[in-house]
Amino acid sequence: MTLRIALSKGRIFDDTLPLLAAAGIRPSESPETSRKLILPSQSGDVEFLIVRASDVATYVQHGGADLGVVGKDVLLEHGGEGLIEPLDLGIASCKLMVCGPPELDLSQKHRLRVATKYTHCAREHFAATGRQVEIIKLYGSMELAPLTGLADVIVDVVDTGNTLRANGLEALEHVANSSARLVVNRVSMKISHASIAPIIERLRAAVAAG
Ligand code: ATP
Ligand code: PRP
Repeated sequence: MTLRIALSKGRIFDDTLPLLAAAGIRPSESPETSRKLILPSQSGDVEFLIVRASDVATYVQHGGADLGVVGKDVLLEHGGEGLIEPLDLGIASCKLMVCGPPELDLSQKHRLRVATKYTHCAREHFAATGRQVEIIKLYGSMELAPLTGLADVIVDVVDTGNTLRANGLEALEHVANSSARLVVNRVSMKISHASIAPIIERLRAAVAAG
């Protein structure tokens, strides 16, 4: 049976390809130039599903894919139901942070307005510290929200901090660390253990080899 691996284009794909290649798994054509959403592998026993980064966990949870590579930020937001997370791939490292104008006092009394695509993580983070917030769902360009008065702060991923600096914002509070994880559908792990276990072990060796 052909195993399906869900991947998103962009930074996760670029960083995952060398690890998959070290594990003997290579796409038969470049996902950057192909318009196909299912790409066969050269060996034929695996195929790649090209999905949005925030949809990888959903595909693997519901069995649309057997395996996937997904940021821990997306997993935290998704909740991880139906998934096994056997391996930290150590790539696409970033931090989920509360960000806003420099020196904004986050303990101010009024209900903070928080713009984010990580609504679940943001709600949990502020609830854990007893702060009432209004969550405003956005899908991208979150840095615009405090600049336009749409929100007081954002919850977004930060790596170099360049995007924040370019927009006059700064990281104010840490929410979680993130890096890309291999995830496996719980049922696939049982049914296809003989073919999935070697892939996990070869990827583990590729990650350890750096
Ligand atoms: P979608 O297309 O579903 O909205 P996205 O635009 O966030 O998702 P990418 O930008 O490719 O997709 O990010 C994929 C993953 O890479 C994120 O879930 C996160 O784990 C990580 N990531 C995002 N931004 C950065 C960054 N600037 N540096 C390092 N890792 C990052
Ligand atoms: C992500 C994130 C920040 C930026 C942070 O955006 O949403 O805007 O990276 O990285 P930095 O700290 O190194 O500047 P991305 O580049 O993925 O674009 P997107 O808004 O399309 O997701």
